[in-house]
Order: sequence, then structure tokens, then C-alpha cells
Amino acid sequence: MSPEPAPFGVYVHIPFCARRCDYCAFATWTDRGHLVDRYLAALRTDVRAAVAAGALPEATSVFVGGGTPSLVPAEGLVSVLAEIPLAPGAEVTVECNPDTVDRKLLDTYVAGGVDRVSFGVQSMVPSVLAALGRTHDPAGVARAVETARAAGVRTFNLDLIYGGAGETVADWSRTLDAVVALDPPHVSAYALTVEAGTPLAADPDRHPDDDDQADKYLLADQRLESAGLANYEISNWARPGHRCRHNELYWAQGDYLGFGCAAHSHRSGRRWWNLRTPERYVEAVEQGRSTEAAGEDLEPDRRRIEGLQLALRTEAGVRPDALDPSDRELLDGLVEERDGRLRLTVQGRLLANEVAVRLR
Ligand SMILES: C[S@@+](CC[C@H](N)C(=O)[O-])C[C@H]1O[C@@H](n2cnc3c(N)ncnc32)[C@H](O)[C@@H]1O
Ligand code: SF4
Repeated sequence: MSPEPAPFGVYVHIPFCARRCDYCAFATWTDRGHLVDRYLAALRTDVRAAVAAGALPEATSVFVGGGTPSLVPAEGLVSVLAEIPLAPGAEVTVECNPDTVDRKLLDTYVAGGVDRVSFGVQSMVPSVLAALGRTHDPAGVARAVETARAAGVRTFNLDLIYGGAGETVADWSRTLDAVVALDPPHVSAYALTVEAGTPLAADPDRHPDDDDQADKYLLADQRLESAGLANYEISNWARPGHRCRHNELYWAQGDYLGFGCAAHSHRSGRRWWNLRTPERYVEAVEQGRSTEAAGEDLEPDRRRIEGLQLALRTEAGVRPDALDPSDRELLDGLVEERDGRLRLTVQGRLLANEVAVRLR
């Protein structure tokens, strides 16, 4: 038997949204609909050029993120996927907003090789969704999940956010109950983060409270674990066999190539990122120029520390000898040794950013 290929990821960025959520700092635009066709054509050209240059090994995972990938025509999206060489059994994920999917779109995805969708649910409480500026309602989430199942998508994720303005612990509990009732194979739950430059950042009255978010994190962990979804990274829970292999590759500092504006890439300790706007990306591809905006070579020590920070966030943790005694002392109470591995305690999971800072 031939050995398993080394994991290799491909990220494809789709920078279009119907409406901008005021907490979001991702590279996405609501007024660039006229660019969609040119953008998809540029993606195809860019991927084809990477294949021709021998720079794109068979991908073991592909992640189409955004923005709102499900907003662009499904045929156009799968025509980009068709250019990407895949290893047997590759995981292919597309991020979807619940109110943008229907049976035809998901049938096209499945026929085009998509085997995983990730729905941006955020909350199952109408007032919380409205406060977050979301365009869907809880019934739309249930419909989207049902449609994904009917279309035969292999697996799916539901993204949640806790700590939005006005969200009570009872609201969050309702969200968790409603999500568990949908029997998802994977859930990601993120603490609302105040990103610099967003409208949310300019409105301190709506900033989340650390203690409230800690309570909500613990509630999520308890509720999801008891529903059979095991925590395998601070913000991620999955049933056996349903972990996101693409994110696991990021956490293991694996190699990946990013296509599209603002997409990041990493190869053997060098990382780089693309031009930020769709216009500049499309022009660069059309004129045969590099799409890279900037990059950096990671010093071995920095790479080692980043590797530790990432691995410690996961259920696998690190080998006990990966941390020297002084580091372990710094992390007293935040890490523990279990089954021959060093892992974050629950307190450490709540204070993961602090753990990362102390390891620097
Ligand atoms: C880039 S979005 C793309 C998915 C899709 N457009 C959506 O929002 O539903 C991916 C996920 O990031 C999370 N996210 C975005 N901004 C965030 C923030 N400021 N704090 C916490 N989570 C955030 C949301 O859970 C979202 O589903
Ligand atoms: S729908 Fe998603 S990507 Fe678009 S603005 Fe909202 S959070 Fe950002």
C-alpha cells in the first residue's frame, strides 16, 4: 500500500456578502456584485496557473470561505473547484449563509464534489439574530439543515456566536437547545470578538462582557458534550469522524495555498497573503502578475512557539517535553498532564489568549 499523502490544503476566498454584519472584519464587500463573474474567472485562471507551475499538489482538504460563498452562482463556484486537483477522499467545505441555500444550489455543490457545508447560524433567538444584523431566522436554519441532508451533503457544521448585545444566558441556552435538536455533526462556537475598525468597535455599550462569555462558553461545552459532540479545539465540537480536517491542518501548521483576494498561504515556514481587494486581485491575475501583497519567513523559534500555541488549543495537546519547566510553571493551573499529553484545563481553555501570551 502506498503511504498516505502529506496533508495539503487549499483555501478559496469569496469576498461578497448581501449585507455587512457590523462585527465582521473579514475581507468582504456588499457592492461588488458586478465583479462576481470576473472574480470567478480569475480564480480559475489562478488555480490553473498554479497547477501548470507544479505548485499545487493534490489537496486533502479544500475550504471555500468568505464572505458568503453561497451568494455566487453555484455553477461558477464548482467550476473553480473543478480546477483543483484532489487527493482521494478529500474534504471539500463551502461556507453558506442559511438564507442563501436551496436544493438546487446544494445539488450542484454535491455534484461538484462538495462534501461539507458550514452554516453561519450564530443564534437561534430572533431578537439576538436581529441585534447581530443577520438576515435569516431560526426556521431558515432548520430548513437549510434539512435541505443539506436531503441533498446528501456528507457532513455539516453550524457556526455560533455568543456574547452579542442583549443576549441573556437564557437566550444562549435556547440557542444551544435548538442547535442540539438539529442533531449537527459539528458545531463551532465563537466568543463575539470586537475587531478594530468595525462599527461594533466604535460602540462600547455593545461590547461583550468577559464573565458573561465565560459562563456561556462553559454552558456550550456542557450542552454539546452531553449531546455527543466532543470538544477537539477550544471553539470546536464534533461527533466521531466529523472533525474539520482543513482546520486541523491549520492547527498542525500544515501547508496550504490560498486563492482569491486577502487569502493567506503557508509553505514550510514561509507565509504570505494576497492583495486585499477583489479589484486588485482580478487585475493582477488578468495581467499575469503576482497576486501576493506581502509575506514573511518564520524564524524557527517563532514557528516552534506558534506550533505550541496552536497545538495546545487542540484536544491532542503537546508532548510533556515540548514545554520546558519554566514554561510549565508560567502555565500553572492552565495546563495539565493527562494520558501522557499536556492539555489545557477548562480554565486554560477560557484563558487561551493568556496562555498564548505567556508562551511568547
Ligand atoms: C467569515 S464568516 C463567513 C460565514 C458567513 N458569511 C456567516 O457569517 O454566516 C465565518 C464565521 O466567523 C464568525 N465570526 C465572524 N466575525 C466574528 C467576530 N467578530 N467574532 C466572533 N466570530 C466571528 C462567525 O461565526 C461566522 O460564521
Ligand atoms: S455574512 Fe459573514 S462574512 Fe458577511 S459580513 Fe456577516 S459575518 Fe462577515
